[in-house]
Amino acid sequence: MWDYTDKVLDHFRNPRNVGVIKDADGTGQVGSLACGDALKLTFKLDAKKQRIVEAKFQTFGCASAIASSSVLTELIKGMTLEEAARVTNRDIAERLGGLPEQKMHCSVMGREALEAAIANFRSGKTDKKLLEGKVICTCFGVTEEEIERVTRENTLTTVEQVTNYCKAGGGCGNCKKDIEIIIERVRKEREAAALNQAKPKKLTTLQKIKLIQETMDREIRPMLQRDGGDVELIDIVDNRVIISFRGMCAQCQVAEVTMKDVVEAKLREFVEAGLVVEEEKQ
Ligand code: FES
Repeated sequence: MWDYTDKVLDHFRNPRNVGVIKDADGTGQVGSLACGDALKLTFKLDAKKQRIVEAKFQTFGCASAIASSSVLTELIKGMTLEEAARVTNRDIAERLGGLPEQKMHCSVMGREALEAAIANFRSGKTDKKLLEGKVICTCFGVTEEEIERVTRENTLTTVEQVTNYCKAGGGCGNCKKDIEIIIERVRKEREAAALNQAKPKKLTTLQKIKLIQETMDREIRPMLQRDGGDVELIDIVDNRVIISFRGMCAQCQVAEVTMKDVVEAKLREFVEAGLVVEEEKQ
């Protein structure tokens, strides 16, 4: 018997918001019955298409999959899409008072379904989350990007932990060497970031430009590209970073929110706290 918290048991025994919204604005479907877990998440936005007013789920899985999905629907109600896009699997697990480590993949599945539903609203593309990037674990169809992400977001250090969070490595085991390489890469990144933070130093103009471009390529552009958008660095004038949105982002009604909450927030986190991001004037 797993050591579940009272909150997990409550959401499992009394799941909230079960079902499918018929005229949903966004639908995300992830997992597969063959892998033992599947989740369909639907949400409805308000009249201005800004905030989530309703969310429902259908899931096939264990108690923690049901509890994670149920709490997720409560968590995102009232959020803007930008706020919902920043929800991590840790937020879901924390809202449940924690999950057994072997069950963390249920919280990851919730976050993936939410991302797929947001992408479905923004791009109108298929509600199935398509595999993007190089598949590392063919047994469970887990990509390099996904392994890197759960490792980074949850500070994972072993293959066993990665398996608990996204199932990669939990089948034939042929992918374990590749998973180790990814863990090592993320560990080095983490150490470099910690070193940078420990020794704050004034960046030269050239260093600042390089770091801004690197941060955009590593932290920001992949996030926007997942929804069919993109962003380009146009110029840097003192602390002002001038950008131009591309693809879906260029037509997005909430591009200004993305600019502040995603682009500016990431650049402040990874480059300098005083940076201000502005869109190029046409
Ligand atoms: S390829 Fe990853 S467990 Fe088989």
